[in-house]
Amino acid sequence: MTAPKLALTDSDPKSVATDAVVIGTIQGSDGVLLAPGAEQVDAAFDGELTALLSTLGATGKADELVKLPARGALTAPLVLAVGLGKTAAGQDGPGSEQVRRAAGVAARALAGVTKATVTLSTVDLGATVEGLVLGAYTFTGYKSDQGKAPLAKADLVVADAKDKHAKNVLKANTAIAEAVATARDFVNTPPNDLFPASFAERAVKLGEAVGLTVEVLDEKALRKGGYGGVLGVGGGSSRQPRLVRLSYTGPKPKKKVALVGKGITFDTGGISIKPAPGMDEMTMDMGGAAAVVATVVLAAKLKYPLEIIATVPMAENMPSGTAYRPGDVLTMYGGKTVEVLNTDAEGRLILADAIVRAGEDNPDYLIETSTLTGAQVVALGKHTAGIMGSDEFRDRVATIARATGEGGWAMPLPEELRADLDSRLADLANVSGHRWGGMLAAGIFLREFVPENVQWAHLDIAGPAYNSNSPYGYTSKGGTGVPVRTLAAVLADIADQG
Ligand code: BES
Ligand code: MN
Ligand code: ZN
Repeated sequence: MTAPKLALTDSDPKSVATDAVVIGTIQGSDGVLLAPGAEQVDAAFDGELTALLSTLGATGKADELVKLPARGALTAPLVLAVGLGKTAAGQDGPGSEQVRRAAGVAARALAGVTKATVTLSTVDLGATVEGLVLGAYTFTGYKSDQGKAPLAKADLVVADAKDKHAKNVLKANTAIAEAVATARDFVNTPPNDLFPASFAERAVKLGEAVGLTVEVLDEKALRKGGYGGVLGVGGGSSRQPRLVRLSYTGPKPKKKVALVGKGITFDTGGISIKPAPGMDEMTMDMGGAAAVVATVVLAAKLKYPLEIIATVPMAENMPSGTAYRPGDVLTMYGGKTVEVLNTDAEGRLILADAIVRAGEDNPDYLIETSTLTGAQVVALGKHTAGIMGSDEFRDRVATIARATGEGGWAMPLPEELRADLDSRLADLANVSGHRWGGMLAAGIFLREFVPENVQWAHLDIAGPAYNSNSPYGYTSKGGTGVPVRTLAAVLADIADQG
């Protein structure tokens, strides 16, 4: 994708040469209100902007978009009023997620436009930056007709365009949004072009460009190392599995953080094959890996004072004569044995290898994310990740996930579910014999491979990683890039608080 070029401005939007001026509206109890930042535009309309917007039917509700010709009141020909929704009880203005979504709505409406001047930045600059970049995101490389070009340029109105802090926010939030776009690109690339070897190559390229230390284990190295989970799952495909490691050491690192992400480039279910309807969506089963790769690259760009090591297992889960079977026992990296009762519970098998390998680096924190269970979607829906792990860190990550606007909810790992993973033959089975608490059972399976004394979090993003429906706010159809913003915020929090 090509992100819009963003710059700060402190000029009066009344007299700037631009194609459209974007203002925010708020849903008040007695009708539409103007959001902060719209004052100068309102003055240019002799204080009648609210009345004009009201006549046009504007209410200020979220996702609303009202266009008003400026008719000479401004140099720009057009005012674009985007709804922020209601001000939450106890708040004195719109929250950052409201701003992010409104900026996304504006960016989508501005496709084909050369330059916009945006005043939402006076409410929340960082959220405006993210909303604009992500709302303008497109993935059209596989289409003959590229359609309208995304918005090319946006000037963001701030009090002082030379302010150091504002400049830093612009830079950091642009980088964060670009990392989300990188993760979306990976997810949106079809599985015939994104398979373990090609995914690994792309990850290495991105990593090397920002100076990361990279290591790729191919199938031979995986055999030599004893990575039975990755090899078992990947064995059914003619495209052999990989394990990618990307390491970053920041200036005076405060803590060591391991990141692990599920990289199933396509999940047919294997011999326990999935039904045909909707199977195409399993192109997104590497959403966790995509987020982790994008995040470690981002951490290097933003120079977080941390040591970060991403361990990313990549495999294609296919049924074939060389595929692993229900009934097989795999010896995982580190020696634990697992009886496979369902080849469609493959994510936890490749993750087990990766988590054990990541644990060998003795990290302070281990954060793993995966499109792991349909049960997550049943329990929490498409917009709320299920977050499990060690009590304290799990809650910290869940709070941060909500603050970023990505969403997430802490989930328990009930002790009684462990016995359901007991195996007749091996140390444990990959599924329990029933379907209750499927998201939690997967978390309990993973916990068996996490070293003691490491603070860990498991983010099940089966729903949030992919938007099957129409675009909304700053979210495009297809890959969403979740949970890159959560991971980035958790890393920033660890860099700050330890
Ligand atoms: N990749 C799927 C989980 C998934 C489902 C992701 C829907 C996104 C949307 C995972 O590998 C899987 O197939 N899980 C099984 C586990 C079951 C066999 C215990 C599931 O959820 O059905
Ligand atoms: Mn599966
Ligand atoms: Zn899967």
